[in-house]
Amino acid sequence: MAEKSIIQVGMVGFGNVGQGLYRLLEKNRTLIEDKIGAQLKIKRILVQDLAKVREVTVPEGMLTTSYDDIVTDPDIDIVLELMGGYEPARTYLLDAMRRGKHIVTANKAVLSVHWDEIIQTARQHKVDIYFEAAVCGGIPVIQAINDGLAPNNITSIYGIVNGTTNFILQKMTEEKKTFKEALLMAQKKGLAEADPTLDINGMDAAHKLAILASLAFSKRVKIEDIYVEGIEGITVQDIEFAREEFGRVVKLFAIAEVEGEELEVRVHPTLIPEDHLLAKVDGEYNGVLVTGDFVGTTMYYGLGAGKNPTASAVMSDLIYVSRSVHDNVAGEISNCWFLSDNPQIKRIKKMGDIKSRYYLKFNVVDQAGVLSAIARILGEHQISIASVIQKEQKKGDKVPVVIVTYEAVEKNVQEALKKINGLPFVREETLLIRMERGE
Ligand code: NDP
Ligand code: HSE
Repeated sequence: MAEKSIIQVGMVGFGNVGQGLYRLLEKNRTLIEDKIGAQLKIKRILVQDLAKVREVTVPEGMLTTSYDDIVTDPDIDIVLELMGGYEPARTYLLDAMRRGKHIVTANKAVLSVHWDEIIQTARQHKVDIYFEAAVCGGIPVIQAINDGLAPNNITSIYGIVNGTTNFILQKMTEEKKTFKEALLMAQKKGLAEADPTLDINGMDAAHKLAILASLAFSKRVKIEDIYVEGIEGITVQDIEFAREEFGRVVKLFAIAEVEGEELEVRVHPTLIPEDHLLAKVDGEYNGVLVTGDFVGTTMYYGLGAGKNPTASAVMSDLIYVSRSVHDNVAGEISNCWFLSDNPQIKRIKKMGDIKSRYYLKFNVVDQAGVLSAIARILGEHQISIASVIQKEQKKGDKVPVVIVTYEAVEKNVQEALKKINGLPFVREETLLIRMERGE
């Protein structure tokens, strides 16, 4: 078969990332086409609203509101899905693959939830599917796990994989912005998901962890396997306490770690030492530590969100797939995605069985006997106290008491807190933040 001299692309979605990609192609076209060995043409772009004012203008007639204009066009070789969400993204991806179109997507939500169906369809129809931008924006962490670390048994992944929450935590700490103000800034920068609750409640990080862990451990990790907590409960007071009193910073961590025959997968705010490798990963930056049995610990760092870094990751996939189309090998090479389930991992560890140190903030009435009552309940649940801080308050009758524990078992901590929260002198539900070493 003759090599194709023009590779044609249909784009689904023209928001932050889509427009970033268009601009990238305009600016670096010569370099990109040189790497492909063919011309790259964006033929049609699907949007919801043709009348919307956009930063990037495209030739008349390129935008459409009909997916059929893309999927039924025989000239289109590759569908770029930059729309997001579960539906209609899932239906569009499956339809395109069934018609023999190769896929590049940045959509971690649809991939993590419909992974089996999507990967199976790609294999069945012998099409390529690439998704570097789905995890950590511009950082090539998928490629690192699939290719660079392929010969290793991966033992752990520790990562800051959501730019929006990391940006919000930094703005709250360093610029004393309120949560709402910081979120608005993240949205204006194009960092947040269309529905930003997915960022805040940890689900976006869980989507990414499901993909990373599935690839790294050759084990299908489903969203429902992952314990997820967001940053909603974190206050500036906690961030300051943690730094001043314990030399720690708060990060929303995505953790996957093998322990014996079990795999731990969880997303939650985590207190890490200020000198930890990931402690300086601030703002919209992401950072991931991946440890393998032969390679040791490796670190990946860069902009995890935003139109330009994400466009860079999408374009890297697009160059790869376009080159394969040009060389007539697209869909022929079994692309990574593990072929059989890892027999060494028998099950996902129950959250109640994990062990950690804990930062516990009790809001209690400032009176005699409170501390000893709390300490007694903790002791009864085999939770040993490492330090206690009570900051005297000038106003009001309640006072924050922070207790940091030595390593304890999660279910014991949860049971103890249930009892403590029911005591008459407890004014608010106790805040729990896990403390990790992180390596
Ligand atoms: P935006 O919300 O900015 O853009 C979404 C685009 O999809 C818009 O052009 C919108 O059309 C179009 N769209 C949405 N629903 C439909 C529909 N039902 N039919 C047709 N078109 C539709 O999202 P982003 O560009 O920020 O994100 C795109 C994808 O990239 C998501 O999967 C996201 O998770 C992922 N991603 C985003 C990153 C970021 O930093 N923003 C980083 C990494 C991944 P219209 O413009 O007319 O409203
Ligand atoms: N909303 C996501 C984030 C975009 O903030 O990390 C990048 O996936």
